[in-house]
Amino acid sequence: MDLHQLVSGNIFNPLPEYPTDQRSVNVPHAPKRNVPLTLEEKKLAVRNALRYVPSHLHGLMAKEFANELEEYGHIYAFRFMPNYDLMAPTLSEIPAKCGQAASIILMILNNLDPNVAQFPQELVTYGGNGQVFSNWIQFRLTLHYLSIMDEEQTLVMYSGHPSGLFPSHRDAPRMVITNGMMVPNYSTKELYDKYFALGVTQYGQMTAGSYCYIGPQGIVHGTTITVMNAGRKYLGTDNLAGKVLVTSGLGGMSGAQAKAAVIAGCIGVIAEINETALMKRHKQGWLDLYSDNLDSIIEHIKDYRKSKKPVSIGYLGNIVDLWERLCEEKEMLVELGSDQTSCHNPYNGGYYPAGLSFEESEKLMASNPEEFQRCVQKSLLRQIKAIEKLTARGLYFWDYGNAFLLECHRAGADILPEGATDTKSFKYPSYFQHIMGDIFSMGFGPFRWVCTSGDPADLRKSDEIAANVIKELSQLDLPQGVRQQYEDNRHWIENAEKHELVVGSQARILYSDQQGRSTLALAFNKAVKDGVIKAPIVISRDHHDVSGTDSPYRETANITDGSAYCADMAVQNVIGDALRGATWVSIHNGGGVGWGDVINGGFGMLLDGSESASHRAEAMLNWDVANGVTRRSWSGNEYAYEAMKRTQQRIKGLHVTLPNSVADEKILDTLF
Ligand SMILES: NC(=O)c1ccc[n+]([C@@H]2O[C@H](COP(=O)([O-])OP(=O)(O)OC[C@H]3O[C@@H](n4cnc5c(N)ncnc54)[C@H](O)[C@@H]3O)[C@@H](O)[C@H]2O)c1
Repeated sequence: MDLHQLVSGNIFNPLPEYPTDQRSVNVPHAPKRNVPLTLEEKKLAVRNALRYVPSHLHGLMAKEFANELEEYGHIYAFRFMPNYDLMAPTLSEIPAKCGQAASIILMILNNLDPNVAQFPQELVTYGGNGQVFSNWIQFRLTLHYLSIMDEEQTLVMYSGHPSGLFPSHRDAPRMVITNGMMVPNYSTKELYDKYFALGVTQYGQMTAGSYCYIGPQGIVHGTTITVMNAGRKYLGTDNLAGKVLVTSGLGGMSGAQAKAAVIAGCIGVIAEINETALMKRHKQGWLDLYSDNLDSIIEHIKDYRKSKKPVSIGYLGNIVDLWERLCEEKEMLVELGSDQTSCHNPYNGGYYPAGLSFEESEKLMASNPEEFQRCVQKSLLRQIKAIEKLTARGLYFWDYGNAFLLECHRAGADILPEGATDTKSFKYPSYFQHIMGDIFSMGFGPFRWVCTSGDPADLRKSDEIAANVIKELSQLDLPQGVRQQYEDNRHWIENAEKHELVVGSQARILYSDQQGRSTLALAFNKAVKDGVIKAPIVISRDHHDVSGTDSPYRETANITDGSAYCADMAVQNVIGDALRGATWVSIHNGGGVGWGDVINGGFGMLLDGSESASHRAEAMLNWDVANGVTRRSWSGNEYAYEAMKRTQQRIKGLHVTLPNSVADEKILDTLF
């Protein structure tokens, strides 16, 4: 990797050769994108891309861009894609005038490392369409800006497009990113395809477009604590030995379920229709065993229930067939259930209907989309019917934020609860309504860090520091629920290295609350200052969190005061992080549940051992968590209310508006 050349800004002179290994067969590729453009709009898409190109090259580049639009459904400017694999270098290797900007370059390169990214050549990090940039010229230009900027400038990013360096000040973010921001009435899934094809917007998912993705480790930790807390909530136990969780999906994020089930100590049975996806998890060691035969699957379940050994069992087949078979069994073989097919995108490959093989579905999807949609809807109805039968026999089922229940409802399933009071609650809860919502309300969320030395020894040291911090905090006078979470997280961090989840940069995730996050950041900054850790640490988080995300079917599904469809919290979050000294901030439309269904924000911050980094980290992290806890307290969550009361006593200058609850419901009953 030639870093000097990468950041040189010398993009067109000499003009790179058109890469012959573009769309290389060794690398997975994004599907062809939909191009709902008129002839005039196609010309506009090419005109837009040509803005980056000196005019003497327009004849050549216009043809190339037009070909890419026709062939791949998007102008990626493949000529400017480096002809070698990208990866995170160490911070000191990066040619840049300021360390903060260098840390952003490091994170960008990590997000495009083929070991980390889903479709690296199409600049997609994860989630099928989570773009880091829209095209390779933007990538080159952005790296150049970052390498020449100083600590009194800010780089402004519009959906992958580097708008430019603007004078600011030392404590301002070095980069401000927006992805997919739309005027609200235009934020529809249909219009997204059009504006992405025009090259004027992109889907940043959550961490792709803010360069904070660290591989599947984040989702493994999140899924593990979800399963453990589901056990506590539904089965009243911390010990999941011999208990069975049935779910579906061994894909990008859903693949984490196999590993998480074993870490949580239960028997995970996961249906996956796509053999390639299943085998990937098996080879990787996350899926212990698999079969395409339902008799064998049932035998395995019975055996492991007896031996009570944690295991992950893959069923190569359709989840509907597995649920229906479980219904036929006399013995009740399953305690916990969920689903992680990609129901946020049910008719374009996210959900495969029962009765069709994987290949038959792929064909039907392309040849007869209306018929395919009917098959999906019928299959969803069969699936929910089987689940209903088992819930009547004692199964606890929850929606995993993938819009499964929403799509069953849209397909005609009668799953609204009696006396439904809103449009986002079904008979079975979203995991945020029942399992994780209260934990987020206490302020727990995904604190992450990356060791910029790239040295595993630094990561190990940081794990030790984190374990000590959590141990000390858990000895404070804390409510039982908070202490429980500290204990779970201590267990996670003490075993994190053993799980071998590092991909790309030397990174870690650890769910923590407000006090935990700021204490961890201060301890890391001190370790960098004292040379205990060799090089600066970048902290960030994903958007599956208490404050950063407004998403009525997921992160804010348990907001009950009517504000679940408002996005003030996420917008305030990113503004607040920016003005308290984050190194970079981002705000996105889409991510996880789909375009138009969520607004989420994030940040990155370089801990370089300086006094300034300590002040900024403390101020920013306190805000980053308190914002969401306050909102949850205001919306009526008792855990958030209690957390804010405690936090106000600890933090000088914090005075929040706490709600009064209605003392007597009868007052309301007689009003209208
Ligand atoms: N709440 C969360 O924290 C959270 C976390 C992860 C994922 N999700 C959601 O879960 C969904 C899955 O995410 P992903 O990244 O794993 O997507 P993915 O598309 O990579 O994986 C989904 C898998 O389900 C399989 N599948 C589809 N229909 C099936 C069927 N009928 N039977 C068996 N297998 C079937 C697909 O082959 C695919 O491998 C998304 O909607 C995502 O937004 C939510």
